[in-house]
Amino acid sequence: MNARQTAQPELAGHPHFHYVDGVLHAEGVPLSDLADALGTPLYVYSRAALHAAWNTYRDAIGERPVLVCYGMKANSNLAVLKEFARLGAGFDIVSGGELKRVLAVGGDPAKIVFSGVGKQAWEMHEALMAGVKCFNVESTAELARLSDVAQACGRTARVSLRVNPDVDAQTHPYISTGLKENKFGIAIDEALEAYQTAASLPGLQIVGVDCHIGSQLTDISPYFDALEKLLDLIDRLADAGIRIEHLDLGGGLGIRYTDEVPPSPRALLDRVFDRLQARGLGHLHLMLEPGRSLVGNAGVLLTTVQFLKHNDARNFAIVDAAMNDLLRPTLYQAYHGVRAVVPRGGAGQVYDVVGPVCESGDWLAKERLLDIQQDDVLAVESAGAYGMVMAGNYNTRPRAAEVMVDGTQYHVVRQRETFDDLLRGESTLP
Ligand code: LLP
Repeated sequence: MNARQTAQPELAGHPHFHYVDGVLHAEGVPLSDLADALGTPLYVYSRAALHAAWNTYRDAIGERPVLVCYGMKANSNLAVLKEFARLGAGFDIVSGGELKRVLAVGGDPAKIVFSGVGKQAWEMHEALMAGVKCFNVESTAELARLSDVAQACGRTARVSLRVNPDVDAQTHPYISTGLKENKFGIAIDEALEAYQTAASLPGLQIVGVDCHIGSQLTDISPYFDALEKLLDLIDRLADAGIRIEHLDLGGGLGIRYTDEVPPSPRALLDRVFDRLQARGLGHLHLMLEPGRSLVGNAGVLLTTVQFLKHNDARNFAIVDAAMNDLLRPTLYQAYHGVRAVVPRGGAGQVYDVVGPVCESGDWLAKERLLDIQQDDVLAVESAGAYGMVMAGNYNTRPRAAEVMVDGTQYHVVRQRETFDDLLRGESTLP
């Protein structure tokens, strides 16, 4: 903490967001200035925080053969993608739309993996023509479609099968993906047969084995439960004459929203490489698809208190951001820290922070001790991942603007939606 900083506590897990002279800053920019200049709700990202998160992976990897494909569903703003492209990242995409975004920022198609359970033929076609590195295939029906599409355009699709290892990621059920009851992947018991099918199809070339067991993992052990099962599979594939070049362990490393202590990329990688060596599979290349851990704590959502309302049971801070801006609290009962951009320093009261949308489920935070008044600006923490990308227009609310801070400068990286934007494409009957 430098001399100019007050005694405000740092934001949990947010490098590059801190209080200076009693005002919350992103890098060198006071968030109060951004709220004044650009209005709220406003997503604010820190370029330095994105780089810092990337460097955690880069430093953990060292010289080891690892390709990090940013799970861009977490935040697909072009400015965010461009930073990662500049840093040499690959991209994990799940739609033709995401492919277009990567190509729009000049991302390297040879570092793209295409994931997702429901790829359509046009999406496969565009990815093949772009020359993506690999398709993570989730069913035998998808293998057949991909082979057909590849043949029709004279290409060979490099494939990895997404295997469902049936492990419990010990996270929220909606973001747990590696259990039998989830729709994702090919059951590990059926994987060998699916690989044999893939090997028999003319448009495909097998290159990898893939899994993604869930998101916001705060315990490392589920990765290793999955890893051992995948390594057993790779051995069985070798016995069947099917050679694997890479292993993709998906994304999932958690971040600190409150007091979590998620595993570091280094802890994960060191142990994975130990296991690969121990199993005689040191030649395998590794891929990771982190989303949240690269962007989650690089962003906050600014919102302004509209009214304070008190009844017998509760105090409500009604703010101008809502579930349409940040869906995570109501969808997953997710915790996001909330704090005043310019704290008043009094004892405060316990508030539910809620939006203006006509739903009781429209809340951002529950039971938070805050000393606030009408018109105060609040920062909702850890909003860089699965924030703006999950925003919608419910109640005909334009989506927020997004701004990227870079040192003492800032750049609007998405304009606030206008009402004309909202009505575009709609019409009434003649
Ligand atoms: N790879 C695949 C195949 C995925 O399905 C996901 C996330 C990732 C990588 C990136 O995972 P991450 O590193 O971000 O955990 N909307 C939820 C999270 C859904 C995650 C979906 N898949 C949330 O707000 O918590």
